[in-house]
Amino acid sequence: MATAHILVADDELGTRSLLDKFLTREGYAVVAVEDGEQALAQLNEHHFDLLITDLDMPKVDGLELLREIQRGSGATLCMVLTGHGSIKSAMEATRAGVFDYLTKPFELDFLRLQVQRALEYGKLQNENRSLRRQVHDKYKFANLVGDSPQMQRIYQIIGKVADSNATVLIEGESGTGKELLARAIHFNSARADHPLVPINCGAIPKDLLESELFGHVKGAFTGATTARAGRFELADGGTLFLDEIGEMSPDLQVKILRILQEQAFERVGGTTTQRVDVRIVAATNKELEREVAEGHFREDLFYRLNVVPITVPPLRARTGDIPLLIHHFLALQNDRRGTDLTLSDPAVEVLCGYPYPGNVRELENLVERLVVLAEGPVIGVGDLPAKVRDTPPHAGGLALTLPADGLILKDFLETLENQIIDQALERAGGVKSKAAKLLGLNRTTLVEKLRKRGILDETPATPSAG
Ligand SMILES: Nc1ncnc2c1ncn2[C@@H]1O[C@H](COP(=O)(O)OP(=O)(O)OP(=O)(O)O)[C@@H](O)[C@H]1O
Ligand SMILES: [Mg+2]
Repeated sequence: MATAHILVADDELGTRSLLDKFLTREGYAVVAVEDGEQALAQLNEHHFDLLITDLDMPKVDGLELLREIQRGSGATLCMVLTGHGSIKSAMEATRAGVFDYLTKPFELDFLRLQVQRALEYGKLQNENRSLRRQVHDKYKFANLVGDSPQMQRIYQIIGKVADSNATVLIEGESGTGKELLARAIHFNSARADHPLVPINCGAIPKDLLESELFGHVKGAFTGATTARAGRFELADGGTLFLDEIGEMSPDLQVKILRILQEQAFERVGGTTTQRVDVRIVAATNKELEREVAEGHFREDLFYRLNVVPITVPPLRARTGDIPLLIHHFLALQNDRRGTDLTLSDPAVEVLCGYPYPGNVRELENLVERLVVLAEGPVIGVGDLPAKVRDTPPHAGGLALTLPADGLILKDFLETLENQIIDQALERAGGVKSKAAKLLGLNRTTLVEKLRKRGILDETPATPSAG
């Protein structure tokens, strides 16, 4: 650690020079002044890690000095050392943000310890601050790539709800970016300085999930040799990300419902009710509404979770995002590996025609693989995996040949359908009734298909022209 800078303010010459000598000998860079005014002048010009101040001083007294620091950047930790300690002054000093409050006479050994403790604490605080800033920057929307109308709608929703405490339910196929969205919500909220705690309800065995979520008391079950806090407690003040919520067992669903209603729970085996302030963001790659209809998921919990629903469309339903994502992931890989690879235009075109059953994650892995295996500076069509290369580039052109290693019919048909619908819409100048006619559909069916892709807000019941 670099030499810590300490400012000492005391009008009493004896104490002042004792502190000055002692702390200098301890290896700190010390400046000692005799009143609050001089202290402020010093703070104005230099950074100090720690201020040790008397309370009773001429010109500007200790409390005023502390308040002044608090109004400023607050980057200096403060410690009071006073000969006239009283409960009242201690309380006032605490309110003005002091880290420690010592009374004279004091032991030098004790002072040494307290100074070390304060500096250690300050260091941690700074580290946290800079870590948080990094994380924060990382999950600004800038990190979410995609400017398709569907993604823009999602950014709008996040922008609106991030800073509320509303529960958010994110639905989307695997690899569409649900976790990334959950992070964006947390780091754009007032809770950003508190933890974001993720838990994957599908990956933890049923009987362990409860104690993971709520913690347990000592002796709650065989193996519970110590008490342990659950994720809800760890997320206090922050956000709990309940991933794959559709996998949760019915009895745990009841407990989550109670937390959402009362913010109250007990540790497993415990009797004391605990309260936490946690915002819940849940995600699922199942259609939760259908799970409800089929009796696998509680209806009341579904409605509690579904306050703000966000549906992330599969990548094949927002093909406009593909080139952006390709370049984003290529730049990341180049950065990471110190390479400067590019993709040929035809290669990008072929990549854009592939339906990506694994969504953005599949695209990300694909780009990584291309970079790792690249043999020259430009990645061409020949470098693409066969399954990508052999997807007919424009299924809409009806050049239907089964690729060498087959295809996933469902995805293929969906891509085909989307492309044809988009063409019809374009030809009809966006007039849905006309586009529907071109496709031999009724308008309601077309609207429903667009809505499923997240292109449309319109509910089927809303009659409107066009
Ligand atoms: N819009 C996007 N911009 C940039 N990267 C993205 C985007 N969407 C997804 N990714 C990246 O794709 C990968 C998969 O995303 P993520 O884990 O958020 O998906 P998921 O929907 O939670 O998947 P699963 O259902 O399988 O858990 C991650 O590496 C993520 O960073
Ligand atoms: Mg996920």
